[in-house]
Amino acid sequence: MCGIIGYIGSKSALEIVLDGLKRLEYRGYDSAGIAFLDNGRIKTVKCKGKIKDLEALVDKNVISSIAIGHTRWATHGRPSYENAHPHCSGTIALVHNGIIENYAELKEELKKEGYIFNSETDTEVIAHLINKYKKELSFEEATRKAVSHLKGSYAIVVMDESESNKLIGVRMESPLVVGVTETEKFIASDVPAFLSHCNETIFLEDGEMIVLTPESFKLYTIDGKEKNKKPVKITWTASMAEKGGFKHFMLKEIYEQPRALADTIRGRVLPDASSVVLSEFHLNAEEISQFKKLYLIACGTSFHACIIGKYMIEKIARIPVEVDIASEFRYREVLFEKDSLLVIITQSGETADTLAALRYAKKSGIKTMSICNVVGSTASREADAVFYTHSGPEIGVASTKAFTSQIVGLYLFAIALASSRGMITKETEEKFLKDLLLLPRMAEEALKLDNKIQQLAKEVYRKPNFLYLGRGLNYPVALEGALKLKEISYIHAEGYAAGEMKHGPIALIEEGFPVVFIVSNDIYLDKTVSNVQEIKARDGFIITFSDTLTDKIMELSDRFIHVEGINSYLNTVLFSIPLQLFAYHVALLRGCDVDQPRNLAKSVTVE
Ligand code: G6P
Repeated sequence: MCGIIGYIGSKSALEIVLDGLKRLEYRGYDSAGIAFLDNGRIKTVKCKGKIKDLEALVDKNVISSIAIGHTRWATHGRPSYENAHPHCSGTIALVHNGIIENYAELKEELKKEGYIFNSETDTEVIAHLINKYKKELSFEEATRKAVSHLKGSYAIVVMDESESNKLIGVRMESPLVVGVTETEKFIASDVPAFLSHCNETIFLEDGEMIVLTPESFKLYTIDGKEKNKKPVKITWTASMAEKGGFKHFMLKEIYEQPRALADTIRGRVLPDASSVVLSEFHLNAEEISQFKKLYLIACGTSFHACIIGKYMIEKIARIPVEVDIASEFRYREVLFEKDSLLVIITQSGETADTLAALRYAKKSGIKTMSICNVVGSTASREADAVFYTHSGPEIGVASTKAFTSQIVGLYLFAIALASSRGMITKETEEKFLKDLLLLPRMAEEALKLDNKIQQLAKEVYRKPNFLYLGRGLNYPVALEGALKLKEISYIHAEGYAAGEMKHGPIALIEEGFPVVFIVSNDIYLDKTVSNVQEIKARDGFIITFSDTLTDKIMELSDRFIHVEGINSYLNTVLFSIPLQLFAYHVALLRGCDVDQPRNLAKSVTVE
């Protein structure tokens, strides 16, 4: 998830684009760049680092009426000068947000035709393609033809030195919004980039292309049919707009999950859903088939993803998995087994304990992999292999979309391991992958529970203690649900394996004590119902999240939330979404600082 902006009009394009980039910096901040016209020629300035570093390099005395800018959150190629946007080819300069799935094939073809690549990005192919078609076509037609070859998600803004009175934007599954005044036009990933200058907006839809001049705009479908759309006035303040109209980053990130999950899946499953794209794990098929044991290690929320991963991998791929908290693992005298793989799971890729666990394993000669969200982070560089979750920057301290994307990464890995070891039939593999493709849409369904959850939160937000219980895959879901509530609402909440409750936590139960059950229609159903009954017998207040509408569980529950499921592995994602919403609403009602809870940090880089 990067931030892009373009401007064409009567004011100083450089100042407007630099200012817009600062307002988009929440979308990514590992490198930045700008392209503008200087004496009729395109000039680019870019750097690794933040917008303030870029600003220091730009000569603001240059008068330009057209510019494009980019603040990067790396997906292909680590943060560096070469990989920073804009990318240029011939008279073309371009900024891009998204992932081009077929960039490797396009790059090969373009290289054969003599195009020279200066970066490791997927973006550079788009600049070369437009340049290539410009040899015979207009700027507009060349852009249209170039994007017809792209697979994946993109929002691009392009400028052309030889037609410098035009900016072109195209959107496909990545956001792009245009700002309109009589004498100038803005185009950006998000409204805050230009809200201080104009509030008349046109939100582009997938498959739309817009051609902007200072005085006009023309909207087309990608295949060239003209479309009509009137600008709409928006009434957001700048800070509301930065959070996409949401009150907090956490809520925005909860709501981004359908998109984030789709980005994690994108390019990782073959188009016919027959198999996982192994190369995305940066391990070869032979390596994958030979691991005898796995260690999954992490901290905080990422540790809960590890436990889910253990259940998935052991069941689907039949490989023994050991999980541990990184701060424990690093000091344990671990008896590493030969031919094992250590996987660290980390959103930031910078958590000190997790990195120490990684280095400890490497020192012991164990092969390592990271499942990581931040491209170019220490974890991604130091591990032998890396799988990026691509869920976009997570700003809220309490992890939400990064967690559910990690589950998807582990699900894919479990299937890849099973397939390469012959532990899964082709039919089952396909079924699992088809299920996965349903996940983003089902996550949208889960978000529709928001109103119900808000009502529930109003009933219970004053309670001082909560217990979360689940069995099997729902045990780590319970742990994560409790952690979410504890971190942002400061209510004491404990997650427990439902079957273990009778060995201690049951002593807490008295009249009205809230107990959250996560119940699936699986082999554990009857056992969990018995646990619910045990709480009922002690007058606890039972809140159930379940994918089953079984009478016995509904009758026993004081409050029942039905979550539509897919399969027991992916339901961990679908149950987590309403639990995140529950924690959010409770925290809000208690007046807590949701995005920056007391005493916590987003990335813990100390021991
Ligand atoms: C901190 C954050 C958590 C996160 C944990 C691990 O405690 O507050 O939300 O789960 O670190 O972070 P990582 O970046 O390694 O996933």
